[in-house]
Amino acid sequence: MSYAVEFNHLTKTFGDHTVLNSLDFNIHEGKITTILGFSGAGKSTLLKHILGVHHPTTGQVKVLGQDLKDLGDAQMREFRTNFGMLFQYSALFDSMSNYENVAFPMREFTKMSENEIHEKVIRLMTQVNLEEISFHKLPSEISGGMRKRVGLARALALEPKVMLYDEPTTGLDPITTHMVDDLIRTTHKNNAQVPMTSIIISHDVAATLRISDYVAFLEKGKMVEHSSVEEFKKSQNPVIKRFLELSL
Ligand SMILES: Nc1ncnc2c1ncn2[C@@H]1O[C@H](COP(=O)(O)OP(=O)(O)O)[C@@H](O)[C@H]1O
Ligand SMILES: [Mg+2]
Repeated sequence: MSYAVEFNHLTKTFGDHTVLNSLDFNIHEGKITTILGFSGAGKSTLLKHILGVHHPTTGQVKVLGQDLKDLGDAQMREFRTNFGMLFQYSALFDSMSNYENVAFPMREFTKMSENEIHEKVIRLMTQVNLEEISFHKLPSEISGGMRKRVGLARALALEPKVMLYDEPTTGLDPITTHMVDDLIRTTHKNNAQVPMTSIIISHDVAATLRISDYVAFLEKGKMVEHSSVEEFKKSQNPVIKRFLELSL
């Protein structure tokens, strides 16, 4: 079994506030892992360590075998092309058409020709079931669910090895939430040959149990449990039992 991300006794403090407390676990390559926890548990901070936005106060983070602290700025920029990201607010460029949003990473990071870019944009938009009518609209002219599809297509543009989702369904209605969850699952399967690792940050337990392979439960900066979904459901840990009771 190989790992996409390794946390070796990762501790992060801001001032005298310990936000991540000696985290020591690995994220399986090619699988979907959800990091669950209450608000303020440290989930987004953990994600920023995977992205190399934050560095550990002590301990180590390795992504795809690379210790991120060994990378300079230019190398980090290059390394980040291994990641695709989808956040709560799809973070699209408002003044660019949906098409241009999806084309953007290819223009920025590759030497692909206009024809190659065009083919790929159409392929990605089709893969996420985006209707043709929305290609040349602005993000503000389509629904929140459609914007998620555009955001996902853009995130997939550079064929990422690791997909990161931070609260991808927070603030969406239940039907759109279900659609986005399905999309995450399908995206993962469609790209299984790469193999793609998907890391989701969420507090939505029902969705987590439905789409993940592994769950890591973070509570006040500590890893309470890291297990397969099946084991997680049966956990006897009182904190997790309570979280499950409150959430389902
Ligand atoms: N840059 C920062 N400086 C100081 N404190 C921070 C910073 N980033 C996050 N924190 C603190 O770390 C804790 C965890 O935050 P966060 O990782 O956003 O939690 P979650 O995503 O689980 O809701 C919070 O108490 C937050 O205030
Ligand atoms: Mg967060």
